[in-house]
Amino acid sequence: MPVCISPWARQLKSSPTLEVKAVADRLRADGVPVLDLGIGEMNPEIPVPSLIKQAMVDALDSDATHYSGERGDPELVSAISEDLARFGLSYSDQQIVVCPGPKDAIFKVALTILNSTVRRRRLLMFTPGYESFENIPVLVTGDPPIVLPTDSNFLPDPSKLDELLKTNDTIAAVVLNSPNNPTGAVYKKPLLRDLAAVLSQHKDVAVISDEVYRTIYYDDVEYASIASLLPEQTFIVSGMSKEVSGTGLRLGFVAGPKKHIGTLAVVEGNASSCVNLPTQRGYARFLRADGDFTERHSIRDQLCVRRDHLLSRFAEVAPRAKWNRPQGAFYFFPDMTAYIGQQDADGHVIENDLDLSRHILETRHVVTIPGTLFQRPGHIRFAFAQSIETIDRAMEHLGEALALLRP
Ligand SMILES: Cc1ncc(COP(=O)(O)O)c(C=O)c1O
Repeated sequence: MPVCISPWARQLKSSPTLEVKAVADRLRADGVPVLDLGIGEMNPEIPVPSLIKQAMVDALDSDATHYSGERGDPELVSAISEDLARFGLSYSDQQIVVCPGPKDAIFKVALTILNSTVRRRRLLMFTPGYESFENIPVLVTGDPPIVLPTDSNFLPDPSKLDELLKTNDTIAAVVLNSPNNPTGAVYKKPLLRDLAAVLSQHKDVAVISDEVYRTIYYDDVEYASIASLLPEQTFIVSGMSKEVSGTGLRLGFVAGPKKHIGTLAVVEGNASSCVNLPTQRGYARFLRADGDFTERHSIRDQLCVRRDHLLSRFAEVAPRAKWNRPQGAFYFFPDMTAYIGQQDADGHVIENDLDLSRHILETRHVVTIPGTLFQRPGHIRFAFAQSIETIDRAMEHLGEALALLRP
């Protein structure tokens, strides 16, 4: 009998964004100059602040390489608590756990609150949405998430949520993500108030508030979190990946109700022991130094220039696309259906967004992510945490790729 593979693990899809990265890497290895608007990271265009790097070096120099305890280094945990207060959120050190990255933090929340032996065990996600919300519940309970499509502005409809929660008693948790990947949409206070009013009627349903883009807002839009309205139900997830361009540093955290966080800390300790200590020291020193958000606003401002440049160039080269202006994160998610159904130079019909994204990559070497992978066909995601020159050339090449299409 061969060793079996868990059916839950077998059901998982590999991360589509990482798959696209692999294609881009292959092209690069063949010497093709790839214009990468695929992967959602700022590095190397916007590097990790030097303060963090120095604190990490100092930690290594002082041999701070031991275990930090399952909740995280106490110095970092209290720095996170103080920093959350700057967002208007009150969390004691006992309500915070540090995890190896935001994705891992979501996983640890799911491991703590989802349970495959009870009826109320499913995760509800809004679509289009981040791919890991699809995969994580499968790994934890074997069940894929229940999906609820957002409206044409990519915003959840509270009345549809209400209807679903009233008619479906299998939902254990609802995940919200604002600013949003892949759309750049932001859930503002009135919407959060309406969502909280619905969710407060279902006290046994948890809310996972994915706030990994919590400092990246544009156009005078302000931070708002459902956690301030539903503190007893909400688990905030954030971390270094997007806030300080530290995707490879692998540090995330969860803040939530004390009782659950106590259990989550034990889950974390058993699964991961802790996050590497130099990274924890780096983030702790950063949070203490950036109390006025100078560094984080500087990152946001650099991204805003890139967003504006992308939008003005995109409007020129893809005039038939329909789109919303992203107000947060660093993604743009236009509706490209006007370009679907056409033929490429070889007479192949572009049947859908997957074909269109592949056409753009193969003919003019621009990496994008098809909307189907976020459960919104017809759209394409462009990540704009790239240099102005890369964005400029990518848009020029996009225009050329679209010009190759014929009715
Ligand atoms: C909405 C959202 N949540 C969580 C994550 C996970 O971040 P990481 O892969 O660095 O753990 C991402 C990464 O793209 C994301 O977009």
